[in-house]
Amino acid sequence: MAASLRAACVPATFGGLGLFGAEVLSIEAALVTNYTASSRDFARGTQPSTELDNATFCNVTVSYTHPGQEDNILVETWLPIENPTWNDRLQASGGAGWVAGRQAFSYETMAGSLADGYAATTTDAGLGSTVDPAIWAVTSPGNINWYSVNNFASVALNDQAIISKDVVESFYGKAAAYSYFNGCSQGGRQGLMLAQRYPTAYDGIAAGAPAMYLSRTGPSLYWPQEVMNMLNRYPYGCEMEAIAASAISECDGLDGVVDGIISDPDACLALFNPSKLIGTPVPNCRQAGNETVEISTAATVIVNATWHGVITANGAWTWHGVGPGADISNEGLVEFEIMGTAATNCDSGVCVGRPNQLGVDMMQSFLGKGDPNLDISKLTYSQFDDMIHYGRQIYGSFDTNDPDLSRFRNAGGKLISWHGLVTALLSDTPDFYRHYELPGLGHCIGRASGQPTSLFDQLRAWVENGTAPEHTPVDVTVLDGSLQHRIACPYPEVAKFEKDGCEDPADAGCWSCVAP
Ligand SMILES: *[C@@H]1O[C@H](CO)[C@@H](O)[C@H](O)[C@H]1NC(C)=O
Ligand SMILES: *[C@@H]1O[C@H](CO)[C@@H](O)[C@H](O)[C@H]1NC(C)=O
Ligand SMILES: *[C@@H]1O[C@H](CO)[C@@H](O)[C@H](O)[C@H]1NC(C)=O
Ligand SMILES: *[C@@H]1O[C@H](CO)[C@@H](O)[C@H](O)[C@H]1NC(C)=O
Ligand SMILES: *[C@@H]1O[C@H](CO)[C@@H](O)[C@H](O)[C@H]1NC(C)=O
Ligand SMILES: *[C@@H]1O[C@H](CO)[C@@H](O)[C@H](O)[C@H]1NC(C)=O
Repeated sequence: MAASLRAACVPATFGGLGLFGAEVLSIEAALVTNYTASSRDFARGTQPSTELDNATFCNVTVSYTHPGQEDNILVETWLPIENPTWNDRLQASGGAGWVAGRQAFSYETMAGSLADGYAATTTDAGLGSTVDPAIWAVTSPGNINWYSVNNFASVALNDQAIISKDVVESFYGKAAAYSYFNGCSQGGRQGLMLAQRYPTAYDGIAAGAPAMYLSRTGPSLYWPQEVMNMLNRYPYGCEMEAIAASAISECDGLDGVVDGIISDPDACLALFNPSKLIGTPVPNCRQAGNETVEISTAATVIVNATWHGVITANGAWTWHGVGPGADISNEGLVEFEIMGTAATNCDSGVCVGRPNQLGVDMMQSFLGKGDPNLDISKLTYSQFDDMIHYGRQIYGSFDTNDPDLSRFRNAGGKLISWHGLVTALLSDTPDFYRHYELPGLGHCIGRASGQPTSLFDQLRAWVENGTAPEHTPVDVTVLDGSLQHRIACPYPEVAKFEKDGCEDPADAGCWSCVAP
């Protein structure tokens, strides 16, 4: 078997590939042997860390175009031959940031999929692996490349499903028994897009922290900086960190357990007023050369705005903020924490804004259409509002907010999302769609919560055996640094510590899912 598969790893095996609306430009197929790689749990999102050792697989890269659109898209698929052998299944991995896939992170995810026996696939959506979307989204200043935007938003995702399934079938002589999609952040958005627009693309989808309303989420990443710019005040990160720490200590116990984790951010927002901290001294401020500084009024306003979310000049709320307790200033210096949207850089007592790059890209490249004369640090409130409004008008293709998932359900699809603002999609869906909130988790990775590493196998059992997932185990690091085994529950249920007959919150058996 292995010998014949090795022999089949040549372009001619894949000669029959076809896709309506596309033209195959070239096919590469190369045998890869003795491939060894580590795949960390956060690269896999919903699966545990694993090692791929001495694998033999066929690496097939299909290059195709949509004739007339001048695009060139690469779908790369790894087909296991030995160590391990194929498990009869396909797993597609999603992108991150402004990258559709086919970057180092995708390859790490794919190595993990391969280690479990899946055929693994990724697409670059024709955009390459650049992290700067201006390169593909802006044809020339003022002109958006709508073909690229559509490939990124949706089209290439469905192409990838069709092409990779064909590649699998051509190689093994039989179709994959089941096909899965797994992604977080941009990858989570891709997963929801697939369920909503291409309901037969995958049997099972795991979508983490989906950037659901990307046309609004994108600019919201810049919002705290806009507030700083309008105030012309750029606080020390330690001021904002101290405000967050105060919120954590005040709101922590609301869920019955003092563990450093805020489980109910809305209740915390209602309870906690940062203004009372104005003037509070913060010792050992890193950005102030370890001197003591006082919490400024500006810091409280900026932190408050970051938590409450985007509000127009007229006071209308337009998009969510981040939960109190998040590392918005990047002062926590949590490894891989990328979402600090209210960060500053300070030198000799003078601070400037340090915006989140994804937010800058949204403002500059997408909403600003690559205008070299646009200085987003100088936007007035009404200019900022206008850009967001415009973005909602023209970038609806990014958004994955269609609550009609009936076609996906009818096709037998199963969807698990985890962490994020997806509750609008969740009315009466438990037979095919469940959502898990992980209060201690950062954006896809980091902070107090570990990854929900059993979710993918629970999704698989749901798809293949009809066993719907209930709670899922998750490890959290609590205040004293120790690791506790907890559970995350399908929304709207929440995990509750049962004190009766149970002493130890570190025992997962002491937690149960209850209606809120
Ligand atoms: C296989 O890979 C390992 C580790 O990368 C390396 O030490 C070894 O020499 C390789 N073996 C062969 C036969 O290439
Ligand atoms: C690596 O895999 C190849 C092909 O499956 C096998 O022949 C070889 O013995 C393996 N090497 C080790 C060190 O396991
Ligand atoms: C698979 O092939 C593509 C195209 O040649 C190449 O870019 C990629 O690095 C290869 N991957 C591996 C793991 O060999
Ligand atoms: C501030 O304190 C940190 C941690 O103790 C230390 O690493 C750093 O060098 C100090 N910075 C200055 C400017 O003294
Ligand atoms: C925080 O933001 C909310 C919502 O915009 C607002 O009602 C409240 O006055 C703000 N509080 C502070 C201290 O800025
Ligand atoms: C489905 O059920 C069978 C029989 O109980 C079991 O062997 C198999 O592992 C299950 N598959 C999944 C994906 O859970």
